[in-house]
Amino acid sequence: MSTSIFPDIPVELGGSRSYDIVFRPIDRISRTLEEACLGPRRCLVVTDETVATLHLNALLAPLKTDGWRPKEIILPPGERTKAPEHLADLYEQALGAGIDRKTPVLAFGGGVVVDLAGYAAATLLRGLPFVQVPTTLIAQVDSAIGGKTGLNHHLGKNLIGAFHQPRCVYTDLSLLQSLPEREWMSGLAEVVKHALIADETFFGFLSEQWDHILAREPATVGEMVHRAASIKAAVVAEDEREQGGRAILNFGHTFGHAIENVAGYGRFTHGEAVALGMRAAVHLSARFTPNLPATCIDRLLRRIPVAGVIDDLPVGTLIRAMQSDKKVDAGTLRFVLLSRLGEAVVRQDIAAREVEDAWRAIRA
Ligand SMILES: NC(=O)c1ccc[n+]([C@@H]2O[C@H](COP(=O)([O-])OP(=O)(O)OC[C@H]3O[C@@H](n4cnc5c(N)ncnc54)[C@H](O)[C@@H]3O)[C@@H](O)[C@H]2O)c1
Repeated sequence: MSTSIFPDIPVELGGSRSYDIVFRPIDRISRTLEEACLGPRRCLVVTDETVATLHLNALLAPLKTDGWRPKEIILPPGERTKAPEHLADLYEQALGAGIDRKTPVLAFGGGVVVDLAGYAAATLLRGLPFVQVPTTLIAQVDSAIGGKTGLNHHLGKNLIGAFHQPRCVYTDLSLLQSLPEREWMSGLAEVVKHALIADETFFGFLSEQWDHILAREPATVGEMVHRAASIKAAVVAEDEREQGGRAILNFGHTFGHAIENVAGYGRFTHGEAVALGMRAAVHLSARFTPNLPATCIDRLLRRIPVAGVIDDLPVGTLIRAMQSDKKVDAGTLRFVLLSRLGEAVVRQDIAAREVEDAWRAIRA
């Protein structure tokens, strides 16, 4: 039985691939592992140095008390860790620890750790059970849900990957309190995205509660994460392997990825690039959906602080970067647009002039 005021969220994928997102304090994890048919034995705990310093003992202590024998694998923090050389290091440490096909992998960290550890779990011994224990806002509402795992290649982001569903997503909301401000704001961009594409009333909640959210007031944060995670769960349940409907999760990302690409990774966080990208996508949407409350949406998006402006990035270069995105389908640019507040559609028939206008609309 759940010990949280927030009910478990089922991710309905059919058969044994279905799992729950649970909301519990980290010290109750052994019981949840048992519920996911994972009994005490050797396990791998993959994390990064920052999360290890702040929170690893809180995870290891209850595991050890309950008979687990965790092998910690601690990686450097940051996007550069989602790379083949760190995957090789992870493989080396995992195989050296004497794993077998029942050894669970616990991914304990932000989107970088959950993506990389998930891919290692998908590939080691042709697939190990794994459990997501996300520690950033982005990971709790997005990266850890849906089974997309992967890493970057020097030719592009997320070019290597696999679908591998976790046995469970274990969410401890209190872990979010230690997030640096910029990471918190970056996660809020994905939360707002979920509301824009799927839930008008959630957008109203975010607009009304924004000051409490910025202050990370625990009850408000809990409700926000629960609602955002429910949206992600529903979208991936409809389209597990990104054949169609899941594409709406890329709202703002065609623009956002181009910003990251042209500005160079590191100048803007992913969330900041997506926040800017969503502003452009809302502008574009309003051209086709005249009654969209674009000004009201833009007002909330502007409350996500972005460190810097994109005025020095030439529009032509940004458009070329969009065309080289891996999600471009047979050379056709696809845009996720809002058909109303809380509903998104994918369109391919957008004139170049409209795209240029959208880029210009988000210059300072
Ligand atoms: N698989 C998917 O479906 C999916 C979806 C969205 C994003 N992603 C991926 O997620 C990644 C971005 O996620 P992210 O922003 O969580 O990145 P991240 O893992 O790099 O975390 C950001 C920073 O926060 C630190 N951190 C993590 N938890 C902390 C905590 N509780 N307290 C203090 N510091 C903490 C990390 O050490 C890191 O420095 C990208 O690589 C993106 O591609 C994947």
